[in-house]
Amino acid sequence: MTRRLVVAVLSAVALFGGILFYVGYGFYDVGADTPHWEITRKVMETVRNRSIAVRASRIELPDLQDEQLVLKGAGQYAAMCVNCHLAPEQTDSEIRPGLYPKPPNLSEQRFDPKTVFWVTKHGLKMSGMPAWGLGHDDEAIWSIVAFVTKLPGLSAEHYKDMVARAPPDKEMESMDKGDGKKPEKGGKPTTAMQMQTEQKGEHKH
Ligand code: HEC
Repeated sequence: MTRRLVVAVLSAVALFGGILFYVGYGFYDVGADTPHWEITRKVMETVRNRSIAVRASRIELPDLQDEQLVLKGAGQYAAMCVNCHLAPEQTDSEIRPGLYPKPPNLSEQRFDPKTVFWVTKHGLKMSGMPAWGLGHDDEAIWSIVAFVTKLPGLSAEHYKDMVARAPPDKEMESMDKGDGKKPEKGGKPTTAMQMQTEQKGEHKH
């Protein structure tokens, strides 16, 4: 009995020592250009999928059919997501080949809207998928979800047309200004350049 205990304790110490040695000497390759071992990939994927599924299931789905909401989402998508998640008939982008894990092509792959909301708002650790909820309210995130659910199956022309018809983005305007304030109602400048011109104008008077 005691011998078994000694063996168990020694094995645990050896295993722990082995892990410390492996980590301490930097044997693990964290480079994004070498894939995970199959076992690491499976474990991480299961943890990730369960984490998302449980959290997404608690979300209540609003009405996502409103055309203005979808159009707003089109503008947001083109500004914030397309480089990593592509558009119809776009096969790759500058950033995509180097990302690991690779972002899904949202113009082809369909995801459950609650999942899209949760992942877009909170992001995914150690993947390059940002938490957009830190700079955007839920309404903006839902507009993106509304658009993303319509995206698979859109033609390239239809996509471009929707992006072109998207309303100007108030949140981004206020971000450009750098003061965290929403632009005032009426007389609102629409681009960073216009804002600069306007500010310069103010100084003159
Ligand atoms: C810098 C690149 C990058 C940008 C920009 C980006 N994402 Fe991602 N996204 C990723 C990566 C990488 C993954 C894959 C993560 C993984 O597989 O664990 C991902 C995964 C996802 C997923 C799949 C979730 C799942 O369950 O598999 C959705 C949906 C998503 N992103 C939505 C968005 C939306 C919407 C935007 C824009 C608001 C966006 N992403 C912007 C990199 C990005």
